[in-house]
This record gives sequence, C-alpha cells and structure tokens, in this order.
Amino acid sequence: MKNATNVIEMRHIVKDFDGFKANDDINLTLHQGEILALLGENGAGKSTLMSILSGLLLPTAGEIWVNGQKTEVKNPTVAKNLGIGMVHQHFMLMDSFTVLENIILGHETTSGPRLDFKVAKQQITQLSKRYGLNIDLDQKISNITVAQQQRVEILKVLYRGANILIFDEPTAVLTPQEITEFIQVLRELAKEGKSIILITHKLAEIKRAADRVTVIRAGKSVGSFNVAEVDDNRLAELMVGHHVNMQLTKTASKPGEIVLKVDNLAVKNKQGIAALKNLSFNLRAGEILGVAGIDGNGQDELVAALSGLTPVDTGQVIINNQDMTNHKVRQITENGVAHIPADRQKYGLILPFTIADNLALQTYYQAPLSRHHILRQDAIKHNAQELINKFDIRTTGPNAQVGALSGGNQQKVIIARELNRDSNLIIAFQPTRGLDVGAIEYIHKQLLLEREQGKAILLISYELDEIMQLSDRIIVLHDGQISGEVQPETTSDEELGLLMTGVKKEGTALA
Ligand SMILES: Nc1ncnc2c1ncn2[C@@H]1O[C@H](COP(=O)(O)OP(=O)(O)OP(=O)(O)O)[C@@H](O)[C@H]1O
Ligand SMILES: [Mg+2]
Repeated sequence: MKNATNVIEMRHIVKDFDGFKANDDINLTLHQGEILALLGENGAGKSTLMSILSGLLLPTAGEIWVNGQKTEVKNPTVAKNLGIGMVHQHFMLMDSFTVLENIILGHETTSGPRLDFKVAKQQITQLSKRYGLNIDLDQKISNITVAQQQRVEILKVLYRGANILIFDEPTAVLTPQEITEFIQVLRELAKEGKSIILITHKLAEIKRAADRVTVIRAGKSVGSFNVAEVDDNRLAELMVGHHVNMQLTKTASKPGEIVLKVDNLAVKNKQGIAALKNLSFNLRAGEILGVAGIDGNGQDELVAALSGLTPVDTGQVIINNQDMTNHKVRQITENGVAHIPADRQKYGLILPFTIADNLALQTYYQAPLSRHHILRQDAIKHNAQELINKFDIRTTGPNAQVGALSGGNQQKVIIARELNRDSNLIIAFQPTRGLDVGAIEYIHKQLLLEREQGKAILLISYELDEIMQLSDRIIVLHDGQISGEVQPETTSDEELGLLMTGVKKEGTALA
C-alpha cells in the first residue's frame, strides 16, 4: 500500500541536551504504507529523534508535520491521538502484571465503574490473529520470553490505534528465526496501510524489510536512499563516514590448558523445570568456544550458573582448576572471570550512576581505585577517561550518567570494564547486541586480541554470523543439552540450523 503521501515530515529538528546537540538539523520524511529504516552509529541521535516524534522529548527547534499539518507533539498523549506509537529499545512493561493487563494499562475500557476485560480481550485477540502476533494473554510478563514481550509491546501500540509505528532496534533481542517472523509482521502491517519507521544496525535487515533508508551521522542528516539502490558497503560508509572493513582476519588458534571445565551440569530455570541437563564441555586458554542455539534452550541458565547468579543442582564448574560450583559472584570474579551479560541494564550497569562509577564497579575496592579502604575519586575518574578514549564511548565525560547514554554506548561501558580487568576467562553473552557495524568490528577485534593473549572466551550468541566468524569450535545448545559440536570451517548455516532444532549430528560423541 505504498503511497507518496507524507504521513510524517520532521523538518530541521534540533535537540540540545545542556549544550550537546544530539539532533542537529535533521530532516526525515515518512510515506504512507512504507517501511523506512533509520540508520546511524551508536549515539547518532536515532532514539532521540524518535522520542521527539512520539512526544517523550520536546525538540529545541524544528517542525513536525503529521498528515500535511504542522503539529506540536507536546506529550505522548498527543502522539497517541495522532496515531503515533513507539516500541522502545528497552521495553516498558510491568513484570508482575499479565500480558492483557499490560496491553490495556492506560487505555482501559470500562463498563460502569468496572474494568471491562472481556471486550478488551476480544479486541486484542483479534489483533493478534490478524497480524500473527501469537501470545498467551493471561501469562505474567516475568514468565515470557523477550520475543513474546516484544509482541506485547506491538499489540499495545496497535490496541491504541496507532497507524504510524516506530520500532527502536526491535531485532536486537530476537533470534534469526524470530527476526524472520518479525519482518513478516512488519510487512503485514505495511500492507494494511500502516507506516513504519524501523531502527536497526543490521544492514541485511534493512535490505530484507525496508523500502527506503534515512541515514544520520553525529546528529546530522546524511540523506535518504532507496534500499534497492545502495549496497551494504555503501550503507556502512554513509553511516560511519569512512570505509568499514566487514571481513575479519583470524589467526590459527593455539589452545593451551583447560581454563573452564563444565562437568555434568544440571540447573533448573525460574519455574523449577530442568533447563540444563547434564551439560559437559571444556574450554581452553587461547580459544573461543561459540555456543549457538535458539534463545531459551539453556543459554541464560548456563551463563547464570557459570557466573554465580543461579544455584547449580548437580555437576561441577571448574575454573582455573578450582571448584567454583555454587560460589559467590565476587569469588568467581576474583578467580579470573570477566562477564559481559546479555541484559545490559539489568545485570551490567547501574543506570543512575556515572560512567566513572560504572567502570569501577568490579574493582573499586582494589588499588589503584582505592587506598586504605578509601575510594580515590581522581583515580576512578582517570580510569574512566582512559576507557572512554580507548573504547570510543560517545559521551560528554566520566561524570555523565550511564542512563543518559545511547544503548550502544551503554554496551561499550560494560565491555570496556570487563575487558580491561585482569581475567583469563571471558563469558561474553551477546556482546555486540545493539552495536553499530563500526563498533561490532572493534569489539570483535578486541575479543580476537584477548584470545591471542591466551584468554579463554565463551561466546554465547544468537547471531550465527558472529559465532561463525569468531569461534574456533562451536557447540550447539538444544533443550539444555549439546546437540552437536562443529568447526566453523567445515559446518554450514544449514547444519547449524538443524542442530539448533535438536536434530543430532551423526557420529558426534555427545557429552
Ligand atoms: N537525556 C539525555 N541527556 C543527555 N544526553 C543525552 C540524553 N539522551 C541522549 N543523550 C545523548 O544524545 C546522543 C544520542 O543518543 P541516542 O540515544 O539518540 O542515540 P542512538 O542513535 O539511538 O544510539 P544507539 O544506536 O546506541 O541506540 C548520545 O550521545 C547520548 O548520550
Ligand atoms: Mg538508540
């Protein structure tokens, strides 16, 4: 249902945060019924621009035209009434409420003084059927997967009658299979005449899903292009302003001693169901072991057990020849483990703290950050400035709040802190989630460098490309067990796909 009518025109948008221009004269046009990708580096100003469009932030200057009319989107209610709905980069759902309650929250239908759940439920069920957004409406948010939570967010905006939908990095949290389904949903929405803005760092997705792409760089407009007319290299170049080398060079691995030994590990999930079933594997120094698999097959529990966040039922975790089973996080950390968690805001950062304090979280009680049990603020700040430079964290300085950083820059803070620490085992769970291609290239190079320096790296990722590019060996998790072990040079996406769905590999000596 593409149509040349402009449903949205953002003209010369400026957003100033205390003298820092996150948006600096940006133009964006959205046609009715199209899928427009919004592309830009971490910190380029994408989320800011979309927050302005959805009434969460007021622009410092510039105009917004909706359906040909100049409008002031003063607050989210105005946006909602204009039919603008946004699914945010970090979801905004109430954990202890059900799916249904979350969807109708703030938009309740009543019959007399009581909430009318029945009518709402019927309407939402219809919406979910129409767009293929399957979900159990009576489940609590805390019990459903991230992909399901995203469906809740989409239903929420649809239920509010949105016909202009903004998605801020929706696929960053999805597996390849879920991404395919999601793109299908987007197409369905566009076919029905809805207009969509899609923020993503994945160039392949822009190719698959979008009609046009608008590129911004460092808060400024670069231009808009028909997707069919630009290739990946050109897009990457437009985005970062210089050529990006998307191919990695990797030396042969020189595996040393066993650093991590997982022996017959069994762990239950939050619902008390067996999530890891007698899992066994080794990881050696100087080696990257990739753990592939579809989300929800034991990855969360494996990482939680290794890092001390969840109790182990039976089996052992040996790290650097010491039994670390059911030890405390601090003890495990001090035994040489660095941990890059998948959920950066829940486990990786303290959002109201400064960058400097977040960068000191694991080592604040040691020299040089402390002396005689007293924090040395100058050393903490100095440490932060060094890491900000080294990891190219885009910020105003060490005292900025981590919560005010762009998503990708929050991730860089965690990576900087964990890689900078003295460790010989790195547990990297989705380390490049939400990062732009330039930043991914940088992190991948860092991980390979750490490997060359003899560190052992456990890489758990839902990105097959990442697993294939970095790993020396790959194990595939399915239903809490290893369904196969393969070499990246000799396997294929198809073989991995089969293993991921639980079809075991012939002749694999399992566990
Ligand atoms: N509330 C705020 N106060 C101060 N600075 C902010 C605030 N919100 C955003 N910024 C800054 O504005 C810049 C743009 O941030 P924004 O979140 O829009 O980036 P983004 O393009 O969405 O990046 P990412 O791809 O990493 O999500 C960043 O440098 C960020 O630190
Ligand atoms: Mg963002």
